[in-house]
Amino acid sequence: MSSGVEPQQVLARAREVVSSCTGFRDTAISPSAVDRVVRAELARGRSASELLAELQRPGAPLARALLDAVLVGETYFFRHPEQFRFLASEAVPAALRRGNPVLRGWSAGCASGEETYSIAACLLGMVPQGVRVEVIGTDLHEGRLEAARRGVYGNWSRREAGPLLHPLYLEVADGRVSILESVRAVTRFAQANLLEPLPDSFGRFDVIFCRNVLTYFSPDAVQTALGHLSRALVPGGHLLLGTVEVDHPPAGLVRVGPPELQAFRRPTPKELTPPPKPVVREPEPVRVSARAAPALTPRPPPPPSPVSLHTEALHRIEGGDEAGASTILEKLLQQFRDYLPGMLELALLRERAGAREAAFALMHTVRDNAARLPPDQIIEGPEPLPARFYRASADAFLTLGAIE
Ligand SMILES: C[S@@+](CC[C@H](N)C(=O)[O-])C[C@H]1O[C@@H](n2cnc3c(N)ncnc32)[C@H](O)[C@@H]1O
Repeated sequence: MSSGVEPQQVLARAREVVSSCTGFRDTAISPSAVDRVVRAELARGRSASELLAELQRPGAPLARALLDAVLVGETYFFRHPEQFRFLASEAVPAALRRGNPVLRGWSAGCASGEETYSIAACLLGMVPQGVRVEVIGTDLHEGRLEAARRGVYGNWSRREAGPLLHPLYLEVADGRVSILESVRAVTRFAQANLLEPLPDSFGRFDVIFCRNVLTYFSPDAVQTALGHLSRALVPGGHLLLGTVEVDHPPAGLVRVGPPELQAFRRPTPKELTPPPKPVVREPEPVRVSARAAPALTPRPPPPPSPVSLHTEALHRIEGGDEAGASTILEKLLQQFRDYLPGMLELALLRERAGAREAAFALMHTVRDNAARLPPDQIIEGPEPLPARFYRASADAFLTLGAIE
């Protein structure tokens, strides 16, 4: 007997559950990932009404499976190296001037831990004797936290885009590396949701990295998370966000360095004391013109940018829909012929799909186009990277036959 519940209702409810648990805006939730999880349950013989009922229970296994499917875990060591250089040259010296015996860092949305260990290695490399280091990595995805605790990584975690700025690991076998004991000893991991404040027992932090996480959030969720992050900073502490995550400083923080650094500082109470008020004369009354203000015509929404299309393709790849990702990338490249990050992505997809000739042809174009640019020119993409990265990746592919 039919329950009257349609699979579409389950899918819609599943998206709501994901959005309320993670803070993701609807467009950042991969439809194919949600679809896959729900269809797998239906294929196991469960009914749509059963699934809908399970989705009403917070923390039910189905909600867990949905989260695991949609959370994007892309990360690698010393990602955005300019932020680690800032950490070493500005944030750590500022923290040391505060004279505390412990320097504390938080990697919020740490995925499999590469960022957390990179922060720990950087802090260890900078502190004088007698100052302790403590770094915590938190994430919503328990499976990734387990990988982080194991601390053993393959080549994909060690990319050319992230130079090894501080000693971090030892080679073990088959190109795999294991995090140094000294770095592990100061690092721990815990499950935590950025939509809730970190429990007080975690203390406050001299430096917080929250990168490539808020980019998926709804505007409200961004504000909630930023509030929790800012409150967890000690006065004078620094927050580093991902490259395109906010366009103005979070409430209560001030920007440090150029906008592309996305570094913010919590002012000290002394800095917040207002200077004495100057004596101000009453202004002359202003004559107001009777002319009406021009009516505002609503602007059409901006067309999708190559970066937003590329991000959509990455979601498809994460969700296992490589064919869908290819279609998006093909359209993207018809519109934006010179968009190197999309060309590289599509070449890798072609290679994985067994279309070697097409992959090689695209990689040749990546290499030739990248070679025409100044090596340090930053190419906008889901992650801004220098032209030399694209050239080196294409070279590696063309000489070795393939890259990961
Ligand atoms: C793309 S990874 C970023 C990893 C690392 N910060 C970096 O930049 O390399 C995003 C991580 O944020 C986590 N995440 C997403 N929403 C979250 C939330 N509401 N609370 C905690 N973690 C969340 C995901 O599970 C994922 O591991």
